[in-house]
Amino acid sequence: MLSMSKSTANQADEPHDLERRVNALLAEMTLAEKIGQMSQRHAGDGQAEVLHDELRAGRVGSVLNVVDVDVINELQRIAVEESRLGIPLMVGRDVIHGFKTIMPIPLGQAASWNPEIVRAGARIAALEASTAGINWTFAPMIDISRDARWGRIAESLGEDAFLASQLGAAMVKGFQGEDLSALGSIAACAKHFAGYGAAESGRDYATTNIPENEMRNVYLRPFKAAIDAGVTTLMTSFSEIDGVPATASEFLLRQVLRDEWAFDGFVISDWDSVRQLKIHGLTASDRESAHEAAIAGVDMEMAGDAYAAHLAALVEDGEVSEETIDHAVANILRAKFRLGLFEKSFANPEELPPIASDDALATARKAALQSVVLLKNDDRVLPLSTEDLSNVAVVGPLADAPYEQLGTWIFDGDASLSITPIQAIRSLVGEQVDVRYLRALANSRDKSTESFDEAVEIALDSDAVVLFLGEESILSGEAHSRADISLPGAQAELVQRIRETGKPVIAVILAGRPLTLTNIVDEVDAILFAWHPGTMGGPAIADLLFGVESPSGKLPATFPRMVGQIPIYYNQKNTGKPPSPDSVVLIDDIDPHAPQLSTGMTAYHLDAGYTPLFAFGHGLSYTDFQYRNIGVDSPEIGMGETITISAELVNAGEVAAEEVVQLYIRDLAGNVTRPVRELKGFKRIRLEPGKTAKVEFDLHTDELAFYGRNMRLVTEPGEFHAWIGGSSDTQLRTEFRISD
Ligand code: NOJ
Repeated sequence: MLSMSKSTANQADEPHDLERRVNALLAEMTLAEKIGQMSQRHAGDGQAEVLHDELRAGRVGSVLNVVDVDVINELQRIAVEESRLGIPLMVGRDVIHGFKTIMPIPLGQAASWNPEIVRAGARIAALEASTAGINWTFAPMIDISRDARWGRIAESLGEDAFLASQLGAAMVKGFQGEDLSALGSIAACAKHFAGYGAAESGRDYATTNIPENEMRNVYLRPFKAAIDAGVTTLMTSFSEIDGVPATASEFLLRQVLRDEWAFDGFVISDWDSVRQLKIHGLTASDRESAHEAAIAGVDMEMAGDAYAAHLAALVEDGEVSEETIDHAVANILRAKFRLGLFEKSFANPEELPPIASDDALATARKAALQSVVLLKNDDRVLPLSTEDLSNVAVVGPLADAPYEQLGTWIFDGDASLSITPIQAIRSLVGEQVDVRYLRALANSRDKSTESFDEAVEIALDSDAVVLFLGEESILSGEAHSRADISLPGAQAELVQRIRETGKPVIAVILAGRPLTLTNIVDEVDAILFAWHPGTMGGPAIADLLFGVESPSGKLPATFPRMVGQIPIYYNQKNTGKPPSPDSVVLIDDIDPHAPQLSTGMTAYHLDAGYTPLFAFGHGLSYTDFQYRNIGVDSPEIGMGETITISAELVNAGEVAAEEVVQLYIRDLAGNVTRPVRELKGFKRIRLEPGKTAKVEFDLHTDELAFYGRNMRLVTEPGEFHAWIGGSSDTQLRTEFRISD
């Protein structure tokens, strides 16, 4: 190994020295070594040893999917000690919502609306993954999705660009820590750049159609926020934009990312997405695919070998400039220096906290607790009281499913750490309440009603019934989209049978996406929507059922009444014919004598109306939160100034609880039309019963900027409406103006 990379150690924090180190190393590299840095290889499934010779030859810049610390340290040792330049490896893994200790799925974490718990969860994941020698995660996934059919909505932070920006940035900070080179910090990867979440009809990998204005105002915003938070890498999307797959998009990867945003980290393709350019029909050969991806600005190729096989010839033939290669390699080396890999290449689990530490489990429990959303609670059937109940029936396929409660993308998750709801309920109520449990269905897809008579018997014999329903983890995630997002199998029938017993019925739903619950919503008294809540989902749910804690989650995505309403999202445009309650005539109300006069001629469905089943931001509490006295500190502000919008939050109920207070605005006129509402702020507030808090939001005029007709970011003077409340359909409104 040359002494250069060692002798320049410990200076990476200074940008000037960092660039000097990058350039000095680059200057020593052969073209083959540079292309090696641009290649990431699959090292899982026993592939690690096969790579040894290539590592020695400097032909690999990164590996993924190997999780054994000894195997990883050996790969690093070969790279550092036996390759000519001793460049350490980036070791990547999908550590999406935990490593061994699993936090709620990202969509569930988004329901906490709590950047701090999201940061803390990512921190635990980073610490645990570091024990294995992993130094790079492919998270956060910050694709905006307005389509719950898409299986990967589970991995996303929901439908809103502002919420996803805040929480995505928090995740980046959690993974990367205060100092990326510190022990337990791993590089983050914001993905998938960009637009993947808009796949047509929610079919994974399908075409996306996103006009540039929408792309900039919605889909790109969380990526800019991740970059501002210091994210080290970005991953391209499998999808195409305007006929060009994202992996070959100069618009995204050069114009937006480098020219406009000055990103100096590196971009990795998605799994084999360089060679897929040919399958998309953009190129005729792998060589052409390597060319397109390289000149577009994909710095590293994941898993495929198009770069390894063709880049050298492309450079020699003058089709890809060496400058393009140098730029890519500099981006990769910069990340490696920032990670401190040249100073500390090997992992030592002894230096890190143990897996599933007390802190990890407490964080997972708190994250689960704050992610559960109380969708309805008729006659305050919840919380259950151990004093009033002598027995309770717990029925359903997801009450005791340690693996399923973890959700999708948990490659390394340890289901043996899971505490299931039934275990937690039993331990919470002890001898006080008799808990009768019946699975009733083998899994959520089971269509057999064989056990339903027994379920009814148990229910008849109990004071209340808690049904654990939903979807197994296999029903969401990559390549697991659904066209019908209602409860699968015979679950709705089970609800119906239990309903007929006349007992109070509480549904706890575990799922990887918003579901259409229209056919069961009136058949149950309460619904706790728990997503896939992770390792500590059981205790969190038990605490909520029995009122140890009050629910405080809020929906990060709209729940449609029926699939045909999709895409349905809160920050839609007004249209020229917006619907209102008096403009809607539903199918059954059409006047048979004058059908042509009946409908309101506005934007709604005859059979679904225009409202969702549950709105974005919705989530109830065991207490009664009320909002009043909304106001602004000044009715008019100048450009460049800050306005303070405030309201009072009153806990008019009987228990202490947390509420996520939300601020929405509407820009009444713009040079492009603006959404009917846009989330601009939120705060999680804990309030004792009988107390009032004044909640204030400061909004600078820059925070009201949007991309206009010419694709420039602008804040326009004019009238604004602002709402503060506990959901996107809050009606408590004030107004202000930005003067010319
Ligand atoms: C494909 C997925 O789209 C991406 O999100 C993931 O990080 C890679 N595979 C690696 O597993």
